[in-house]
Amino acid sequence: MKLTILGGGGFRVPLVYGALLGDHAEGRVRHVTLYDTDADRLDAVARVLGEQAGGIGDAPAVVATTDLDEALRGADFVFSAIRVGGLAGRAADERVALDEGVLGQETVGAGGIAYGLRTVPVVVDLARRIARLAPDAWVINFTNPAGLVTEAMSRYLGDRVIGICDSPVGLGRRVARVLGADPDRARIDYVGLNHLGWLRGLHVDGRDELPRLLADPELLGSFEEGRLFGADWLRSLGAVPNEYLHYYYFNREAVRAYQDAEQTRGAFLREQQEGFYARMKDPAAPPLTTWDRTRAEREATYMSENREAAGAGEREESDLESGGYEQVALALMRAVARDERTSLVLNVRNRTTLSVLDADAVIEVPCLVDANGARPVAVDPLPYHAVGLVTAVKAVERAVLDAAETGSRASAVQAFALHPLVDSVTVARRLVEGYTKVHPGLGYLDRP
Ligand code: G6P
Ligand code: MN
Repeated sequence: MKLTILGGGGFRVPLVYGALLGDHAEGRVRHVTLYDTDADRLDAVARVLGEQAGGIGDAPAVVATTDLDEALRGADFVFSAIRVGGLAGRAADERVALDEGVLGQETVGAGGIAYGLRTVPVVVDLARRIARLAPDAWVINFTNPAGLVTEAMSRYLGDRVIGICDSPVGLGRRVARVLGADPDRARIDYVGLNHLGWLRGLHVDGRDELPRLLADPELLGSFEEGRLFGADWLRSLGAVPNEYLHYYYFNREAVRAYQDAEQTRGAFLREQQEGFYARMKDPAAPPLTTWDRTRAEREATYMSENREAAGAGEREESDLESGGYEQVALALMRAVARDERTSLVLNVRNRTTLSVLDADAVIEVPCLVDANGARPVAVDPLPYHAVGLVTAVKAVERAVLDAAETGSRASAVQAFALHPLVDSVTVARRLVEGYTKVHPGLGYLDRP
């Protein structure tokens, strides 16, 4: 099996490679090709992977290239994990929104729309190239905003592109653990869009254990989402929302906290990662120790901003095993490559799962996965309050896709204006002005 990683110079690639190193089974990935537009970052990451592979006999061979076509040819799996505009682009997405008094965040609200507008044209190009050069490859999309990006790519790749996120799995595991259940045996009832879903049930041996959690204030106070949303609100909802719904349910507080912060999350990560790349560029720098790597991985992946802002504390050590996105990716590849039927929460086309959305809308939902790919399982309908958010945000995504396809500024304005977290059409217009000023990549929005 050959795996190609688009965005192979990314900070989290060592996590993915680390997961592959733990797989010794027949049919595992034996060749990894790293592709990136930045040769220095590629060198840095290739060096880390070399250090990781040291002493491991069956470690997958690694090739690094800045030639996209070469990277794609012969790929069985393509991971897309790119960040268009880099962390500087993310920091600008966050800042412009916050300066307008609305949420500036990587994937949610105005910041997420700006990121989507910048990213969709690039991933559409990639999808076209993949369809031509590796038509049989399975594409696993991590690129954020993951749901929107997966939908953009699915127009060219159909069900061969599958989007992943670690947050629903992480939520399911935390809730299972609080209830004293084995996370690997619990079936979760979860549905929505990426970063916009609700856990409505957790079934162990055919019994829903979630009501027991919702009835117990002490249990509710003992895990991350319980502290983030508060026991009363979880009881009112009768469900546990994805942590990203904090930005909707506590929007005013989140915006204020971000405005008061010294730097945005993107600016913070940028500083942190610049240090890493500078260090890896120095040929005399000693190899990273295991401790360095563990620390870098933790900082990169698990100290998410909303947890910090809400004072929910850092994620516990027990959450770090088998919950990370690299584990979801590996589980997905295994199921597809070896036809090992498994169930995973993934971003796939809706088909008939949620009747309020059309068949091509990408949703996040538990799926059965095997050699034929991922098929959503049947779920109960969403309650009206959730239908409201899901359909509003899907309309926003469709406006972004239209703007990216046609270059229409009116569609871009519509995307911002229709978002539940942008409170005025005037603000939406100013956001389009502001973003096109700071992002050269939005120059394509040149049609009225
Ligand atoms: C979670 C989300 C990802 C996001 C990641 C890191 O894992 O599911 O979509 O990329 O957090 O967020 P950060 O703010 O650390 O870049
Ligand atoms: Mn995610």
